[in-house]
Amino acid sequence: MQDAIATLPKVELHLHIEGSLEPELMFALAERNDVDLPYASVEEVRAAYQFHDLQSFLDIYYAGACVLLTEQDFYDLTWAYLERCRDDHVRHTEIFFDPQTHTERGVPFATVIDGIHRALADGERELGITSRLILCFLRHLSAEAAMETLETALPWREHIHAVGLDSAELGNPPEKFQAVFERARAEGFPAVAHAGEEGPPDYIWQALDLLKVARIDHGVQAEQDPDLMQRLAREQIPLTVCPLSNIKLCVFERLEQHNLKRLMDAGLCVTISSDDPAYFGGYVGENFRATAAALQLDLDDLEKLARNAVDAAFLEASAKQRLHDEIGDWRARHAA
Ligand code: ADE
Ligand code: ZN
Repeated sequence: MQDAIATLPKVELHLHIEGSLEPELMFALAERNDVDLPYASVEEVRAAYQFHDLQSFLDIYYAGACVLLTEQDFYDLTWAYLERCRDDHVRHTEIFFDPQTHTERGVPFATVIDGIHRALADGERELGITSRLILCFLRHLSAEAAMETLETALPWREHIHAVGLDSAELGNPPEKFQAVFERARAEGFPAVAHAGEEGPPDYIWQALDLLKVARIDHGVQAEQDPDLMQRLAREQIPLTVCPLSNIKLCVFERLEQHNLKRLMDAGLCVTISSDDPAYFGGYVGENFRATAAALQLDLDDLEKLARNAVDAAFLEASAKQRLHDEIGDWRARHAA
């Protein structure tokens, strides 16, 4: 099983690039940029990663991002993530970035996206890993600020595939951003949104009906609403579920209690991703390993999760077919 999980061809659909900032790189960038960190050592940083909810994580996560200042910093951050992808047999990844986290500190939008994009282009050429970039709006900030961010991004539209919505969910419902998502749709961007991570099923309905999203990020709270479960199953709306994140942020107490397998058994299109792996204790491979062990997933489950992510990706049909073929080859090598 360990070998099967390691070599499973994976697609990651829910990864915040700022959440892949490992403490070692945080320290190296702090030194390079002469930024003071409130930690004495890498060990002290890791020890601070004890969260009791989403907000307690976000406070530390936004503080960590302050070391990112130059185009090369964003390149190095993204390249380090792509090396993890290579090690985890990730074949395609769709990456969130939070421009407002950086533009609010005076870092130009161009610096952020040019560094990330240059690394993604190198990743495709040197590692064979394809990617898409998703611009996320910070939902704790205003709808006007989100609209300004969208307008700032338009000159880089060739590098941005879709828009998303993240940050503090409770009290910031999708409806707050309806006009921004309408504008993004008019500009040709598909949409995704974090919904039902800590927030109620109503936020998932709003993301579907008001923001017209193609996928729901997290979505685990859907289980509280049978009508919503039926809709998600009927329409095969993908959920990008992040099991280790949900444990670290106390959405579920223990991985054994996670509802991922129940959502699969109810016919939903479930996928596995890592969210903010530097903060939550594992990249996508580790999310697969830990979840398979805790929920006793078998090879059929792993294959289904991998194929769901291919189907849910923002990729053309021919690229999806190649990934499905790779998963077929993997399955032939690991017949039950
Ligand atoms: N930004 C980074 N990680 C996030 C998460 N898990 N939920 C909402 N916003 C985030
Ligand atoms: Zn997330």
